[in-house]
Amino acid sequence: MVDHRISLTRYLVEQQRVHGHIPSELRLLLEVVARACKRISFAVNKGELGDVMGSAGTENVQGEVQKKLDIIANETLIEANEWGGHLAAMASEEMEGIYVVPNRYPQGEYLLMFDPLDGSSNIDVNVSIGTIFSVLKKPEGHPGVHDNDFLQPGNCQVAAGYCIYGPQTTLVLTVGDGVAMFTLDREQGSFVLTRENVRIPEDTKEFAINMSNVRHWDAPVKRYIDECLAGEDGPRGKNFNMRWIASMVADVHRILCRGGIFMYPWDKREPRKPGKLRLMYEANPMGWLVEQAGGAATNGRQRILDIQPTQLHERVSVILGSKNEVERVTGYHAEA
Ligand code: AHG
Ligand code: MN
Ligand code: MN
Repeated sequence: MVDHRISLTRYLVEQQRVHGHIPSELRLLLEVVARACKRISFAVNKGELGDVMGSAGTENVQGEVQKKLDIIANETLIEANEWGGHLAAMASEEMEGIYVVPNRYPQGEYLLMFDPLDGSSNIDVNVSIGTIFSVLKKPEGHPGVHDNDFLQPGNCQVAAGYCIYGPQTTLVLTVGDGVAMFTLDREQGSFVLTRENVRIPEDTKEFAINMSNVRHWDAPVKRYIDECLAGEDGPRGKNFNMRWIASMVADVHRILCRGGIFMYPWDKREPRKPGKLRLMYEANPMGWLVEQAGGAATNGRQRILDIQPTQLHERVSVILGSKNEVERVTGYHAEA
């Protein structure tokens, strides 16, 4: 716990002025995202008292039924950033095409991508959910914004983070200078720095995977989990614990706090899809946060951040967390 209170604003000003990591436009953009997350947090907290629970009765571009909160969170982010003034365009898990910020001169320099509400299945049961975001620079050299401008690998991100709406609302951020966590102080209405230089232990005894899919997994994933399950008497010589919250934000947050490995691998249910999770809105921002905290993130074969996206809503297999464990699973894929 940091003893003197540093607000998100002050942290970002220092990242800009003292460390020279970010330009002022990016600082202001991140403040707008944080403000939107604060609003979403308040909506989430209202629960049954507000009109925020349950299904919206619509489907998104990926054929998933939308919850009311998926739509509310998406609109909150769009509205806040439309007037923020530093964005050229946005892309969201909940929108088919990109959203170009209208009539602004000069045009904003950045592109924002988000999963407005991660962990939708947990909304109605009062379990942690979140917002995940990723910022890219708009490529220079042409006027306007095109879908292709977004198709940059994760190693081009200039900022990434998430906000978890749990027992506390915590914003977790990287601008390439390690990972910092900010807890929302509801009385003051501001995010306060509560952890800096977050580090993920390189080894772990905790894994997170949806075990109900075991019969659909690929051999290397099955091998890794079987070895964990064998415990002390097996090849790993230690007992493992399992957690699966079904909100990526909550599972990744636990890993940033105490280590662990998270996997949502390719499986045989839909063999043509590379995975369930989305590269641009989930895997890239989480992958960069985890790497910034000393962990690793791969799709089993390749570093997530080096994948060249070919479409906006691209899916990907995800293995991330404690470095030695991720390297082990990735090694099993190479051997197979
Ligand atoms: P979203 O709510 O944005 O669609 O994401 C849900 C994702 C992710 O948060 C979580 O890890 C995973 O889906 C859970 O999937 P299962 O229900 O298949 O376990
Ligand atoms: Mn999600
Ligand atoms: Mn979502």
